Amino acid sequence: MADETLEAIARALVAPGKGILAADESTGTIEKRLRSIEVESTEDKRRDYREMLFTTPGLGDHISGVILYDETIRQSARDGVPFTKVLHDAGVIPGIKVDKGAKPLAGAGAETVTEGLDGLRERLAEYRELGAKFTKWRAVIAIEGEKMPSAYCIHVNAHALGRYAALSQEAGLVPIVEPEVLMDGDHTLERCYQVTEATLQAVFSELFSQRVVYEDMLLKPNMVVSGKDCPQRATPEEVAKATIRCFKSVVPAAVPGIVFLSGGQGDEEATANLSAMNAVGPLPWQLSFSYGRALQAPSLKAWKGDDANVQAGQEALAHRARMNGAARDGSYTAEMEKELAAV
Ligand code: 13P
Repeated sequence: MADETLEAIARALVAPGKGILAADESTGTIEKRLRSIEVESTEDKRRDYREMLFTTPGLGDHISGVILYDETIRQSARDGVPFTKVLHDAGVIPGIKVDKGAKPLAGAGAETVTEGLDGLRERLAEYRELGAKFTKWRAVIAIEGEKMPSAYCIHVNAHALGRYAALSQEAGLVPIVEPEVLMDGDHTLERCYQVTEATLQAVFSELFSQRVVYEDMLLKPNMVVSGKDCPQRATPEEVAKATIRCFKSVVPAAVPGIVFLSGGQGDEEATANLSAMNAVGPLPWQLSFSYGRALQAPSLKAWKGDDANVQAGQEALAHRARMNGAARDGSYTAEMEKELAAV
């Protein structure tokens, strides 16, 4: 990429037809994913899995960037080529998760605050040396009845996101600011709307106070959806309408892009929701994806930890990337899901 300003990198990450692959599962989380296919989580197996994903032919057609984890950004493919170079050569921008996870928030029951600010300036400098161009920090906001989230939980998480984003920009790395309102629970779409709006308002207030440049960042939020256990699940059109209305009221137009997390939505559900939003247009920001589970799940299942299935795993990832690429301009249809079977 010739233009390496933060704004140019942010815009390249949300280029038309493309989105981000989140492959930054911590060692604990990837262990859970590998256990689901009955594979033991060793350093070599984690490398093999990520190598399968990153060497997918044509990865760069619909994937603009990949979020890596601390272990992964230091790893190389079996032939000794560092993953950052593998991605770079595929036209994919490497990034890195820099938070240290959500930890219990003192005096706040089950609520959490994301840690990792101590020593962050030094870690950011090292990640830049290792080839990262952007970073991610995830804050977690849970809904439970009217009690949760507390204003306290929203405030401390928004403040930490501001601290992180300012440090990331200072280090010359595009921050992806991720305040995730969880889907867990039986809450309605309206309750998710209310909590998402309050959270984003607090986040942008902190970003503004802490002198974060909106043009040089991306936002990675949840969509406005009904809780997983809500008996009345909203349709893609309802999700699109509520999410766009909510975001128009709180996300500055100067932010180049919004890259949604999938957060436990089904693979096809996450694609259909994104497509429904992009079908609405015109919007002030690019609306794209930064999916973890919704891009990886079919690929993980097809791979099964076996070298003989690398191609099947890659085809499954390429298919989901293509489907979400189509969702970028609202042209995805359920009919297109049959393409993989036809290959
Ligand atoms: P999911 O799409 O699986 O929610 O993961 C995205 C992510 O990066 C969470 O931090």
